[in-house]
Amino acid sequence: MKPYLIAPSILSANFTKLGEEVDNVLAAGADVVHFDVMDNHYVPNLTIGPLVCKALRKHGVTADIDVHLMVQPVDDMIKQFADAGASYISFHPEASQHVDRSLQLIIDSGCKPGLVFNPATPLQYLDHVMHKLHHILLMSVNPGFGGQSFIPQSLEKLKQARALIEQSGFDIRLEIDGGVKVDNIRAIAEAGADMFVAGSAIFDQADYQAVIRQMRSELALAK
Ligand code: DX5
Ligand code: ZN
Repeated sequence: MKPYLIAPSILSANFTKLGEEVDNVLAAGADVVHFDVMDNHYVPNLTIGPLVCKALRKHGVTADIDVHLMVQPVDDMIKQFADAGASYISFHPEASQHVDRSLQLIIDSGCKPGLVFNPATPLQYLDHVMHKLHHILLMSVNPGFGGQSFIPQSLEKLKQARALIEQSGFDIRLEIDGGVKVDNIRAIAEAGADMFVAGSAIFDQADYQAVIRQMRSELALAK
């Protein structure tokens, strides 16, 4: 297994001072910036686009930016986010007419491609694309909002996804998104995740470093 990565979701950050929030959470020990893009079409909420990603780069953020596209259609946003400085780009397979083509577009743009699975989306979408994936993102809440509760069935799905990754022989990260907290992160790691998105668990607390430290201590106990 690769080293665990903690990816705070800036959806729960204070948007009136986003640059500072991102600087602070990275200084507090976060590895990657998780960037939730919602279009009020694929999901019933509206967030931020490529302009904000570009602004973070201009502000001086050098950490990887993990763009999670909850948009439909997908392909034009891939190009725009690659130009805006995204590092990882993932999308929901149901939102793309041509999943292989969208993945290739991410690769050709120089970014790391991922596929995202809603709680009820079957893992079969992986069958013919494992060789193209840098990461698999399992949603442990329905997409659209921060601050929801972790859906417990996601643990079983993580185990299945981990087994598929192992069978494939490819080096693919397994990312979890939704309701990740200090008190469940260890069980989530034990089910097979190695990258953890956490929005409200981090940004709703005053001391980001304390939360990230607690998460890492829990992860150190994972078997
Ligand atoms: C939900 C987003 C998540 C969300 C996670 O659609 O993809 O990244 O911000 O927030 P928490 O950690 O609060 O569940
Ligand atoms: Zn997300």
